[in-house]
Amino acid sequence: MQRHDVVVVGAGLAGQRAALAAITAGCDVAILTKLHPLRSHSGAAQGGINAAVGKEDSVETHTYDTVKGSDYLGDQDAIEFFCKAAGPTVVEMEHFGTIFSRSEDGSLARRPFGGAGFPRTIYAADRTGLALLQALFEHLGTQPYTLYEEWDLIEVVVRDGRVQGIVAFDRKSGEFAEIAAKAVVLATGPAGRIYGRTTNAHSCTGDGIAAAYRVGSLLKDMEFVQFHPTALLDSGILITEGARGEGGILKNAAGEQFMAKYAPHVLDLASRDVVSRAIVTEIQQGRGFPGGYVHLELMHLGKEKIESRLQEICDFGRNFAGVDPVTQPIPVTPAQHYMMGGIGTNQRGETNILGLYSAGEAACVSIHGANRLGGNSLLETLVFGRQSGEAAAAYVATAPTPVLAETDLDHAVAPIRSMSARSDGEDPLQLRKEMQATMDTLVGIYRTAGDLAEALRQIRALKERFQRVRVADVSQHFNINLTDALETGNMLELAEVIIVGAIARTESRGAHARLDYPKRDDAAWLKHTLAGRGADGPTLSYAPVTITRFEPKERVY
Ligand code: FUM
Repeated sequence: MQRHDVVVVGAGLAGQRAALAAITAGCDVAILTKLHPLRSHSGAAQGGINAAVGKEDSVETHTYDTVKGSDYLGDQDAIEFFCKAAGPTVVEMEHFGTIFSRSEDGSLARRPFGGAGFPRTIYAADRTGLALLQALFEHLGTQPYTLYEEWDLIEVVVRDGRVQGIVAFDRKSGEFAEIAAKAVVLATGPAGRIYGRTTNAHSCTGDGIAAAYRVGSLLKDMEFVQFHPTALLDSGILITEGARGEGGILKNAAGEQFMAKYAPHVLDLASRDVVSRAIVTEIQQGRGFPGGYVHLELMHLGKEKIESRLQEICDFGRNFAGVDPVTQPIPVTPAQHYMMGGIGTNQRGETNILGLYSAGEAACVSIHGANRLGGNSLLETLVFGRQSGEAAAAYVATAPTPVLAETDLDHAVAPIRSMSARSDGEDPLQLRKEMQATMDTLVGIYRTAGDLAEALRQIRALKERFQRVRVADVSQHFNINLTDALETGNMLELAEVIIVGAIARTESRGAHARLDYPKRDDAAWLKHTLAGRGADGPTLSYAPVTITRFEPKERVY
């Protein structure tokens, strides 16, 4: 059996930064990932990373913008810590070799992003996530660690009230294995593939979040799901907010810059929840283009600017929508993009289980509250990745030797073996498709009690059918049918948590817009949702929001 001090699950920016912190603190570290690290979903973040670095900007303004963007559900002590850490984090990543775009005077170039009072989004053209990922991975390559590549997390093993390690699956060999660890950091990213229309990679199936939930972690604020305003029609590929940051304009079928009606002060650069609702409203009220979309126009920016600052967007438009953004508008609609909720942690990445940590999109600290600002996600991965790695290393220093038993493996693997042993049963991909249709249709940007109740009924029926899921492929190596089944089971569990939290929250706040409760209700709902796994589904409890300097007030853009 393999043994490590710390096993980090997930090799995106949060996982790599956590690993680096724990290695630096002297731990024996392993990273386990189902993808090559450079294929992690962090690489899909295009537009940039926020940091108040110039003289005119300030940590205070960044903090305020983030609190306001969160619709006052973010914990303000955590947000202050986060915004203070931003400048040093960006400088560190530059020293690791990230090639950021530059202004004429050689300083870091910054672009405006939605909901921000100042242009503070530092970028590497429209490939910022990839640039960061490459630099960090290269730097990590100078350090000693073990990489379990193309391995899936099956279960976290918790006994005697603390983590003992994990059970994992090696896609290449088809073998299951136990890996003992004093501490486990879950940095497995989001679960966006619960939805059909999403900017998330196919790998974003919430594996770590579901594993944490199964062993008693409390999931926080899962009902808050962000829809990015501009995803390419049909494919759902992200068209970065940086496109509007550079001056791109949304227009309806009548050629109107409709954001003037919804956000008269900042127009197309309102926060994402506001812009997404505006687009859906335009479409629903008949002002969209046939087929249900609006236009994002860049043409007025000129070929030079478009092709230098928005290279990927040009490629995406040309290759996936058949339009040239230099001369033609881009057809866009909102798509699921980010989960504000996740494994509940504090600022150190600690969960309610001893030895279990989480960071990045899998976690909820909470700094994003009910709505995340663009550019804060890349920053979150690095700031709280480091925090969780340092906290795990500190814990490891005094933690007892972990003990795994043969029964831990058997217990985790038995249900999977029975999926493969069935001669008849449900197709995991069919269940996944039905789940995605339910979430797209009934748990979207606008929500109602009726839709959510119907969604819960449908998801519970799918969970019931999942009990009879069948893995028909008997291949030993790279059995995608098997990993599809595991991922689908994870996502069904999380879909239920999202819906149960959304039904309970009878208000509208940030990305959670209830048509039947259109107002924010601070008296009743200025609190975090915590979901634990009960015998009959999620059980909800609530925790207070930390308010330090900014009293909640109406949010206007
Ligand atoms: O629009 C974007 O480039 C996305 C960035 C983010 O989600 O932070």
